[in-house]
Amino acid sequence: MKLSVPGRTTAAAVIAVAGLLTTSAISSAAPSPTAAAPDISVANVQAHLSEFQSIAASNGGNRAHGSPGYKASVDYVKGKLDEAGFTTSVQEFTSNGKTGYNLIADWPGGDADQVVMAGSHLDSVDSGPGINDNGSGSAAILETALTVAREQYKPAKHLRFAWWGAEELGLVGSSHYVDELPADERSKIKDYLNFDMIGSPNPGYFVYDDDPTIEKTFKDFYGGLDLTTEPDEEGDGRSDHAPFKNAGIPVGGLFSGADYEKTAEQAQKWGGTAGEPFDKCYHSACDTESNVDGTALDNNSDAVAHAVWGLSA
Ligand code: TRP
Ligand code: CA
Ligand code: ZN
Repeated sequence: MKLSVPGRTTAAAVIAVAGLLTTSAISSAAPSPTAAAPDISVANVQAHLSEFQSIAASNGGNRAHGSPGYKASVDYVKGKLDEAGFTTSVQEFTSNGKTGYNLIADWPGGDADQVVMAGSHLDSVDSGPGINDNGSGSAAILETALTVAREQYKPAKHLRFAWWGAEELGLVGSSHYVDELPADERSKIKDYLNFDMIGSPNPGYFVYDDDPTIEKTFKDFYGGLDLTTEPDEEGDGRSDHAPFKNAGIPVGGLFSGADYEKTAEQAQKWGGTAGEPFDKCYHSACDTESNVDGTALDNNSDAVAHAVWGLSA
């Protein structure tokens, strides 16, 4: 059942009308398109990070492009998604003479002509297990996807999730995906959301400022947590949203900081340590499970869900 109020389409209007219905009418209704996003379990996100950590440990200490640790990461994420009812596909490409993989997962249903997409790079650098960079984004979108399935969310738009290969070699996987996508398929992607490093140990709250609607969606969420964000100016062109943006697709995303130092002003509003990097283990062997701030990971994972739900309703 779809509630429709001529001339009044705000969430408040829909809620006001829903309040007049009997309990049985509400319970038999399809989930409202304005339903709030569920809370994402940070414990579940952290369990995915533990899995990435063990995968690295049993594969020479990293999950880099062309390594067995990367392939094992793809297999882990794909297994969870297949079990949950996603339609998954693995796209192969070659970079540096080695086979790379993008994992794409579609949630069946929604308007196929309007796609909302969320992506994260799944590869690490050679020097470590890559838990904040970018186990964090990979785990958050995985748990968001699994929550979509658990809730049997029926968005108006079609949902697609992606885990990119070889980002660390220069956005190779995501560029390959966009290059290979036919023009009519590209034009169906209404939003691309990117999550690359969202659990930095000395965290900042940076929101990409590329598309105003997506940016507002995130900022509204943080406003509700009394968190002040900053636009992510340094991230421009530095992650997998760049090929989408270059193809004319609206992009947005989150970032909790890498090797730049937190200023005194930023420490005032976000806590943590001024004069130290947001992530002192950026691209290092110490980017392990202990290199993740649980509160930032929790807030940012919930923000992922807020945007995925809000933009696809
Ligand atoms: N893409 C970078 C990486 O994977 C991380 C990153 C995103 C970044 N935005 C940034 C690093 C801005 C420095 C500044 O390594
Ligand atoms: Ca949460
Ligand atoms: Zn990186």
